[in-house]
Amino acid sequence: MKNIGLIGCGNIAETYFRSQEYFNNINFIACADINEVAAKDCAANYNIKAQTVEEILFNKDVDIILNLTIPQAHYEVSKKVLQAGKHVYCEKPMSLKFNEAKELFDLAQSNNLYLGNAPDTFLGGGGQLSKEIIDEGRIGNILTGNFIFAFPGVQTFHPNPESWFQKGGGPVIDMGPYFFTALVNLLGPAKNVRSRGKKFSDTRVYEAGPKKGKEFEVEMATSYMFDIEFMNGAIVQGFISFDVENHLRNHMELYGTKGSIIVPDPNMFGGPVKVSYKLGSDWEDLSVENMPLGKTNIINHSGRSNEAPKQSNYRGIGLSEMIYAIENKLKHKCNGELALHVLDMIESTMIAAEEKKEIELRSTCEQPQAFSEEKVKLLLKK
Ligand SMILES: NC(=O)c1ccc[n+]([C@@H]2O[C@H](COP(=O)([O-])OP(=O)(O)OC[C@H]3O[C@@H](n4cnc5c(N)ncnc54)[C@H](O)[C@@H]3O)[C@@H](O)[C@H]2O)c1
Repeated sequence: MKNIGLIGCGNIAETYFRSQEYFNNINFIACADINEVAAKDCAANYNIKAQTVEEILFNKDVDIILNLTIPQAHYEVSKKVLQAGKHVYCEKPMSLKFNEAKELFDLAQSNNLYLGNAPDTFLGGGGQLSKEIIDEGRIGNILTGNFIFAFPGVQTFHPNPESWFQKGGGPVIDMGPYFFTALVNLLGPAKNVRSRGKKFSDTRVYEAGPKKGKEFEVEMATSYMFDIEFMNGAIVQGFISFDVENHLRNHMELYGTKGSIIVPDPNMFGGPVKVSYKLGSDWEDLSVENMPLGKTNIINHSGRSNEAPKQSNYRGIGLSEMIYAIENKLKHKCNGELALHVLDMIESTMIAAEEKKEIELRSTCEQPQAFSEEKVKLLLKK
């Protein structure tokens, strides 16, 4: 069991507090936010202590800081945590810039501290069953594939959508972490990327909140079409967009020499996984409801294309597994090396689009190993 201090008391905090109910080693004791009211409300809701950011960094009872601030603040906050001599687990992405994230990685290494990073969704039933099928060679060697995340953008529901459309935002920074991490889990590290990005309009209209009907500026591309070559030779096409009203495509399909797999939503933990072995044959529907991190546990109202109304969401397993790794001196699964490589894929996708050329990735990482049910069970509350 480790005591957690939380920095960034926004929307996603509730999901992490819920993780205390699932996992046996997470214990929140304090929270902080640059917005004092947000910290005080959070502390009152969860019966923990509200502190300033400086106070929580030097709180001797806090073992690990969970960084749930906005992506623009991840680097600054994680750096302060590591400099204060504490382990940090951060929401996605690791930072906005590869070079900044590399600095965090090096800082953690040289201070002998753990640096963990979301997403942890690849540890779910859907990600793990897909991995088992591919690792066992049941569909042969993966040669090609494609994935999609596309919806009209957060201005449809969010009162302050600006940061998603400004430099440092964009669809690849926002949703790339889930898809790229899922792909590295299934195929191993990537080698290079080719990409095209397009800004279709210079302004957008607020569709919710007090600014409804007014316009705001769009600074960057809102749709990216790209392909990634992996070190194992596979080439996978991606489409991530804030310019699509609706669609009816699968989240991710991978095509191997002996069959094809439909990988479930990498933003969630559930299934089913679908597999087909022969041209014209049926698709086998493989449920993950019996897997400890696959069982449906939430109702989801996002309404985005191809999102199931019921979902499996066990966010926090990455933090729990990091705690176990700290206590047993092991390498954790949601580690800095993986997050840094995923950030490299994100940044390189955007650079490739801007520079209109193929970009070689600067980094690599170890392909994650399977997360066995025995290991998951060590972390679950009885
Ligand atoms: N909301 C979601 O559904 C969701 C899902 C998965 C991941 N995430 C990720 O979680 C993170 C937080 O998202 P959110 O939706 O909770 O955002 P949010 O804007 O609701 O909350 C972020 C909080 O961080 C605080 N903050 C910002 N800068 C800070 C700083 N320098 N020091 C201290 N506090 C600071 C803000 O005041 C705010 O209260 C993001 O990285 C996001 O990508 C969000």
